[in-house]
Amino acid sequence: MERLQEALSRARERRGQTGGTTPPASPTLTRNKMASRSEGSTNEAWQALRSFEPNERILRANRVVSYFGGNDAGPFDMMRTKILQQAKANNWRRIVVTSPTAQCGKTTIAANLAFSLARQAELRTLVIEVDMRRPELANTIGLTEKMAFARVLNGQDEPAQHIVSYGPNLAFGTNSSPVSNSSELLQSSAAHDRLKEIEAIYAPDIVIFDAPPMLGSDDTHGFLGFADAAILVAAAEMTTISEIDVAESEIASMTQVMGVVMNKCRLTGSSYGYNYSYS
Ligand SMILES: Nc1ncnc2c1ncn2[C@@H]1O[C@H](COP(=O)(O)OP(=O)(O)OP(=O)(O)O)[C@@H](O)[C@H]1O
Ligand SMILES: [Mg+2]
Repeated sequence: MERLQEALSRARERRGQTGGTTPPASPTLTRNKMASRSEGSTNEAWQALRSFEPNERILRANRVVSYFGGNDAGPFDMMRTKILQQAKANNWRRIVVTSPTAQCGKTTIAANLAFSLARQAELRTLVIEVDMRRPELANTIGLTEKMAFARVLNGQDEPAQHIVSYGPNLAFGTNSSPVSNSSELLQSSAAHDRLKEIEAIYAPDIVIFDAPPMLGSDDTHGFLGFADAAILVAAAEMTTISEIDVAESEIASMTQVMGVVMNKCRLTGSSYGYNYSYS
């Protein structure tokens, strides 16, 4: 892990980046003041969402351990706290989870973060799947109802048709099937406007976007300009330093790099197997 951090520091120096923000003492965000609607109508909008009860067996099988709380959730609670610190310090809300290549664990980490954030009762969290080539978020959390959040983004359906809530402060917008024009959709200003409308209706404090990998398609590139910051997930023994370097550099040209998560680590103190390194 130290070798990884050294290599990343050297790569950042080469790119002339010092990176990093100093988090404040308190990890807790205040309720989003940007919302254009009243608290009452926001609550009504949340209550009107169809609720979803996760299947614990599926969550366990898919490593969504933070749902269960306790020690297993510890690493994700730590990640949540660091994210909230940075979000508060920088007034960030839209956080993209991406990786250099496929299968690094983005969706698993987004789902774990979601349930960890849900335990912060004073915060509202939306998790939106923008990986429309390989949509797996619904399967990962055990949501079986047919969903097509892409139809919300392209203006065909209303947000509440494809968003489900878990408890009073967490909601998911997912897709049951792949979408063919994902790159154009994610870059379109109409889709960005739809997301802004959704933010106005549901007043989330944090929006986590489960995004496609950086290398291989331009889907995430087209979307990063809309985000406030991104988390880069790498997989131990799979992702190379140069892949991290290229992906991090591309993200940094479009938004803030919040941190690099080294996932699938076998040799770590955490039961889940990841390490979080901040830029
Ligand atoms: N820490 C971990 N240890 C072992 N396996 C893991 C870990 N995190 C995720 N996985 C497994 O790796 C596989 C890929 O995970 P996931 O779908 O979250 O990756 P992804 O980056 O979202 O993939 P894609 O690029 O296809 O969207 C899944 O089978 C998941 O259960
Ligand atoms: Mg995924």
